[in-house]
Amino acid sequence: MTGEQLVARAEEAARAAYAPYSNYRVGATLLLKDGRAIDGCNVENAAYPLGVCAERTAIAKAASEGVRPGDIEAIGITASPCGGCRQWLHEWRVERVYFRRADGSIADYAPASELLPDTWDLP
Ligand code: THU
Repeated sequence: MTGEQLVARAEEAARAAYAPYSNYRVGATLLLKDGRAIDGCNVENAAYPLGVCAERTAIAKAASEGVRPGDIEAIGITASPCGGCRQWLHEWRVERVYFRRADGSIADYAPASELLPDTWDLP
């Protein structure tokens, strides 16, 4: 799948977002090295900080099926990932990150740690 295709699939996944508070729908699609694709969307909560971003929903879904860091080839996201999600993408060693910029172009970073200078890991 190309970056454009992965982001297009994430845009479909965003339709399932549960975002009654912000009305801002986010989608994320993981492409696993075994060829599987796993979609996620943001899931908000009335206690606002408890909401979950689309990227984390997708990774948590994958993790619950046995996926481990190093198994994810790429992620497509409908928008630039927040700082917290960048730490998740780093932890999960996502090799390539695509997202839709505000001007419509596709951003392409490899690996995810490129989005997070001087990454932190447990010593
Ligand atoms: N959101 C994501 O799903 N991913 C991000 O990387 C940035 C923000 C969601 C969280 C919240 O549901 C909504 O966007 C507005 O902040």
